[in-house]
Amino acid sequence: VYLSMSDESILVVDIGSSSVKAGHSGEDIPSYVFPATIAKGTNQSSESVEAFPSELAQLVTSQYVNNHSSHPIYRGIVQDWDEMENLWKHVADTVGLSQKNTDGTDNWNTAESTSVFMVESNKASVQDRSKWAEILFETYHAPSICFGNSSVLSLFASGRTSGLAVECGAGSTSTVPIFEGLPLHHAVICMDHGGQDISYNLKKLFNDRNIAIDMFSAKTVKERLSFAQGFTSKDLPHTTDTTTSFSLPDGQDVTVDSRIFSACAESLFVKDENGNGGLVNQVYESIALCDESVRRDLAGAIILSGGTSMLAGTGDRLHRDLIRKIQTEQMNVSCLVVPTTQYREKGYSTQRKFAPWIGGSLMGSFDTYHKSLKITRQEWEENPDMVLATKSV
Ligand SMILES: Nc1ncnc2c1ncn2[C@@H]1O[C@H](COP(=O)(O)OP(=O)(O)OP(=O)(O)O)[C@@H](O)[C@H]1O
Ligand SMILES: [Mg+2]
Repeated sequence: VYLSMSDESILVVDIGSSSVKAGHSGEDIPSYVFPATIAKGTNQSSESVEAFPSELAQLVTSQYVNNHSSHPIYRGIVQDWDEMENLWKHVADTVGLSQKNTDGTDNWNTAESTSVFMVESNKASVQDRSKWAEILFETYHAPSICFGNSSVLSLFASGRTSGLAVECGAGSTSTVPIFEGLPLHHAVICMDHGGQDISYNLKKLFNDRNIAIDMFSAKTVKERLSFAQGFTSKDLPHTTDTTTSFSLPDGQDVTVDSRIFSACAESLFVKDENGNGGLVNQVYESIALCDESVRRDLAGAIILSGGTSMLAGTGDRLHRDLIRKIQTEQMNVSCLVVPTTQYREKGYSTQRKFAPWIGGSLMGSFDTYHKSLKITRQEWEENPDMVLATKSV
């Protein structure tokens, strides 16, 4: 296929459960990355705290919104559109988007109006698109908008159009088989388990050892020290055979059992006692749900993306366990996980935490995008329901 490039730059935005990734199409990585958390009722960014996972269903509301800050997206779904609009205002201020002022005047002359490409989670609905269209066209006067599925874009960022996109975010983990650019919807599996659960597991493991630690510290320590059991490539600082000594973000020096840094992440791979997590089986199931004729292509390109895939040893652990599972179940395929220590891809391997955004940035640079994928204001005004339901990446 011959793809020509476009000069027109668009704003690409990926708002997740944990962080916002934003920047202009054609760039290699997002220029702006900040917490998807705002001080309640304001458009001020707040510190990078992860949402509490819903241990008790009835507490879910108070857990994703605490007294000071809120996470407008919880487990990949927008929970509160007022808070989301506040967060969007913060995004717009940060990147310099134009908008209508509350007194009806606008700053369109001083700031350029920009087309927007929204990266969508696997759980987003057409109602969510309607809401975004309203915000972006009416308040922000975008000339055009577009929606792209984050897993399809992740695969695209790795230079492929077929494969199994495994996206490990903060609020959820999804496995999406994609064949020649099209997701095989019946075999998509989304699990409400991700980085925030690993942070929470680590917090509990610290608490069990009488060390008080909040979600912010748990997240920070996790990103630095945790790893997939059996596969550490991380040089733990001041590690003896059994213990690790380090400083918490608040300055407190602690020494703990080193095993907690792999124990906290175990639920990512294998279901925990509450039935949460279990990526190995999830990947296997997604492949097994597809027709035999495509299983080889899917198992041969299992592409990891998302922040949680940065956990040291994730690819190696998934690869090892998956081979065992495939043998046990006697599925006749061989599997390739990207990246693992056996198979790395320059660029993609290190930047996979931004893969959905990078896929959007690439997509937005092609002429095809401007000719046939984006939704113009006029199309939206003429037939909003049809255009929002049918036009997307
Ligand atoms: N080195 C690391 N080791 C382990 N976890 C990490 C590492 N780096 C980032 N993370 C985790 O990745 C998560 C953020 O990933 P990502 O930005 O893909 O999520 P998101 O897009 O905000 O959420 P979602 O897509 O689930 O709504 C956080 O939980 C963060 O702690
Ligand atoms: Mg995400």
